[in-house]
Amino acid sequence: MNQGLLDKVSESFTEKYHTDPLLVFSPGRINLIGEHTDYNEGFVFPAAIDKGIMLAIQKSDAHTCQVLALDKKEHYAFDTTAIVPVANGGWRNYILGVVAEIHNLGLKVKPFNSVFAGDIPAGAGLSSSAALENSFVFGLNILFGLGLSKRQMITISQKAEHHFAGVKCGIMDQYASMFGVEDSALLLDCRSIASKTFQIDFKDYELLLVNSNVKHDLVESAYNDRRVVCEQVSAQLNVPFLRDVTKTALRGIRKDLSTEDYDKALYIVEENERVLAFSKAILDEDLQTLGTLLYQSHEGMRDKFKISCKELDFLVDITVSNPHILGARMMGGGFGGCTINLILSTAVEDFKKQISEQYVQQFGWECSIYSVKLSKGTHLTK
Ligand code: GLA
Repeated sequence: MNQGLLDKVSESFTEKYHTDPLLVFSPGRINLIGEHTDYNEGFVFPAAIDKGIMLAIQKSDAHTCQVLALDKKEHYAFDTTAIVPVANGGWRNYILGVVAEIHNLGLKVKPFNSVFAGDIPAGAGLSSSAALENSFVFGLNILFGLGLSKRQMITISQKAEHHFAGVKCGIMDQYASMFGVEDSALLLDCRSIASKTFQIDFKDYELLLVNSNVKHDLVESAYNDRRVVCEQVSAQLNVPFLRDVTKTALRGIRKDLSTEDYDKALYIVEENERVLAFSKAILDEDLQTLGTLLYQSHEGMRDKFKISCKELDFLVDITVSNPHILGARMMGGGFGGCTINLILSTAVEDFKKQISEQYVQQFGWECSIYSVKLSKGTHLTK
């Protein structure tokens, strides 16, 4: 728990609105393995982290909702009737989307005052948007006695992203942020939306994130395009989702597909297999296999699904000759953000130094390095 963040948000709320707020913390997430498999109703392996969004929220007697984004020093007021997305609205759309989706269920959000801030590094691909959505839906649920289950809440958050942010994301980020368990990762079946909790203890090894500090253009449309390809291939195979496809079935329609589409679908089928193999390797305490699967996942995203970029490839390539790193891969939606590395704890400091120097030399700007703690999902801090 970041006490500084809690104090900052809570004090700012009290100062501005002169009442006592509910305080909600909603975490960001990492993903051990399984990218773009979620919207194919496949498997993913995320975990909530100790960085996220802190929200202070309380009912108000006024006619409008008030939101103060403390980090950005931006304030926004809106009426709960007639909610529409704001052009280039950034963070506003996640909140508007959540309120609108609650209304779509026939439930009512009344005016509220709120202040939020976060400690997730911006643009790192650690799902600050899911954390923000979940913090609001969770807070509003309590404040207005909406009676929503956690499962309903994450669906609201996901729809907010679809309809107000324009990203047709899967359920992984919202799920991990809401349901995270301390020191654990969640093997999530995105068909049943149920997960199995795996306590994570890599013994002498740990997970380390390296942020490329890039976000390439058109990431949202590239993401949505991948989703369309997956849907088209599954339609061609007469199955609801690529989750239901085997490599043999896919090979059967190879001649009907472009090489690009075939490769993308094949990546999804293989990545699903890797997630399951990864969960087995955790149970077997087989760290070598975990590392190999991470590298294979990266190769699949780079060569078949085509969502990597030169900065992420560089960060992964540099680890291959390092005997203390068992595996690495890009993490998240792609085209920027972080790599996730499985590294010997005693080798972290040397690696940080090496990669920082070589990265800045190669690209002219710095990478950032984070250690994260696997933590519990969205919760009240007061
Ligand atoms: C983004 C989306 C998720 C998931 C990942 C890729 O984070 O929000 O739903 O698809 O990309 O695995």
